[in-house]
Amino acid sequence: MSDAAAFWNPRFAVEEYVYGTEPNDFLRQQAGRFGKGAKVLSLGEGEGRNAVFLAGLGHQVTAVDASEAGLAKVAKLAASKQLLVETVQADLADYVIAPKQWDVIVAIFCHLPQELAHRVFGQAVAGLKPGGLLVLEGYTPRQLAFGTGGPKDAALLYEPEVIRHEIAGLELLHFAELERPVLEGKLHTGQAAVLQVVAQKPLAAMPAVEAGEGYLRHLDGGYYRRLGMARHSEDESEMVVYAHLWPFEPHTWVRPAAEFPGRFEPVTEAEVLQAMQGDQAAAAAAVMAAKAARRAKKG
Ligand SMILES: C[S@@+](CC[C@H](N)C(=O)[O-])C[C@H]1O[C@@H](n2cnc3c(N)ncnc32)[C@H](O)[C@@H]1O
Repeated sequence: MSDAAAFWNPRFAVEEYVYGTEPNDFLRQQAGRFGKGAKVLSLGEGEGRNAVFLAGLGHQVTAVDASEAGLAKVAKLAASKQLLVETVQADLADYVIAPKQWDVIVAIFCHLPQELAHRVFGQAVAGLKPGGLLVLEGYTPRQLAFGTGGPKDAALLYEPEVIRHEIAGLELLHFAELERPVLEGKLHTGQAAVLQVVAQKPLAAMPAVEAGEGYLRHLDGGYYRRLGMARHSEDESEMVVYAHLWPFEPHTWVRPAAEFPGRFEPVTEAEVLQAMQGDQAAAAAAVMAAKAARRAKKG
């Protein structure tokens, strides 16, 4: 049995879900960013609260953990909601994240020794498909002063600059060190110092001539992030490259520069996140209706 399994099995071998059955707050906030039916890998899933929440949203979730006792609870929680989560019992020191396989990789309070974290984050970066997302929340070394959960060994905690370095191949969509109340089961019990990250694997390389970034709302209602300018490979015309964020499947989108910014208005990240928590189907229908109305007006 691995050291991780020996440590975690006794903690999970109780009836109670020690991290609760509700998902992690940050994951819940960010889940609107995931495309429909995403292939999600959850590292150090524990007892299933996050995997089962994501399966409930229609994603195909694989949960990896060293602890058999934890994974037995994952299966039980999933079955209680008539959902399926694939479980893999493995120490992350042995598990290999297959390259370019995952739409989303989740690591919530998955605290690992530095060398192992280096291996796992390296594989996670490689394991994402282009456009795929890494979602991470963990305690920082500042958590030792709070004593409300997490490892007592600073070497296992997430130093933001170390994590930033480990995931350097990804584009940071959200990177925040903050204090927040973490009330997630009996082992996460109060005000805490955390790092929260959402990072995206870059989409197909475009010859960007000018970097530029900002969140935009199309007048039809969709949300985008402006990635920068590019030149069309054939006629050299100027294009604007966007990442489409919501309400359709995330994808990049290119428009002739001349059309920018007539149909867009700038919005804040908070506005995008708020929209993403809304009704995706209704928003998609409204965008389609607005497009159709615009087309009809043009004649
Ligand atoms: C603090 S718990 C968090 C569980 C879950 N992510 C949650 O937020 O409810 C850490 C989890 O990581 C797993 N873990 C720690 N080290 C591991 C390793 N080397 N290999 C696989 N899993 C590991 C533990 O078994 C445990 O389930």
